[in-house]
Amino acid sequence: MQRTLLITGASSGIGASLVRRLAGTYDEIVAAARRVDRMRAEYADLPSVTPVRLDVSDPDELTAFARGLIAERGVVPYVVSCAGAWNPKPFLETTHEEFTYGYRVDALAHAILLRELVPAMRAHDFGRFVVFSGGAALMRSVGWSVQYGAVMACNGYTVAAALENRDRNVKINLTAPGPANTEMYPGPLSPTACHPTVEWLLDLEEDGPTGRFFWLGAELPLFPDLTGLRYMEGVAPPEHFTPLEHVVGDPVKREPG
Ligand SMILES: NC(=O)c1ccc[n+]([C@@H]2O[C@H](COP(=O)([O-])OP(=O)(O)OC[C@H]3O[C@@H](n4cnc5c(N)ncnc54)[C@H](OP(=O)(O)O)[C@@H]3O)[C@@H](O)[C@H]2O)c1
Repeated sequence: MQRTLLITGASSGIGASLVRRLAGTYDEIVAAARRVDRMRAEYADLPSVTPVRLDVSDPDELTAFARGLIAERGVVPYVVSCAGAWNPKPFLETTHEEFTYGYRVDALAHAILLRELVPAMRAHDFGRFVVFSGGAALMRSVGWSVQYGAVMACNGYTVAAALENRDRNVKINLTAPGPANTEMYPGPLSPTACHPTVEWLLDLEEDGPTGRFFWLGAELPLFPDLTGLRYMEGVAPPEHFTPLEHVVGDPVKREPG
């Protein structure tokens, strides 16, 4: 199987740094973003890199692009879905168009790539798919609701896709670069700080993790610890789940855990 790696968001920041870091390690890197001229100039010295113009906010264009990759190559066994947008606007000032655009780039685009590229990974019983999400969306946060909500949707789609494909050697995981200094955000970290984690996720063994979130060499929990909760039965042991004083009666069964 040809080792083809797709990197979206490859024209700047983390995606661009990953193209440089990984060129030569893969037979081909398909580098996708809207600023294709910039990528052609930037990667002119890298013969294994194929720059492609792509707008991930257009679901039809993205679907056609992914289907074209499969038609030409059969399978894209390695994917880093890194394209992302940023809109630091308060919730009530955000327009419908801004919400829609942010959702398309930071949630739907990852879902479309998963939907279009994972079936061929299944058929070849091999795939390593890394989705760039945001660690800050795992915490309470304000001021950037467009991405905050979209990234949560991205996490949900990615975990669902990963768990539904556990029967194959297909590993689908989430990552985030930390506060990296890129066009998007003037963070204190280098865009390269995430490289070891991304390389590890691309090189996972068959018994490696899937459907999880790794960040700068650590795993971040996507879900709270609900040990003892039997949600589908309406059972919550009181030592873990404090009853609400102001709710009359006890609709949840309080069996000891
Ligand atoms: N930097 C941080 O602190 C931080 C924190 C958490 C998560 N992240 C995530 O890390 C990833 C990389 O971001 P970055 O920091 O490297 O930002 P960046 O330098 O702004 O890079 C964003 C990349 O996404 C591409 N992109 C944006 N909109 C696109 C669209 N509609 N269609 C196709 N490509 C599009 C851009 O290319 P074109 O403009 O050429 O299309 C660019 O290559 C993103 O998913 C981001 O959400 C970053």
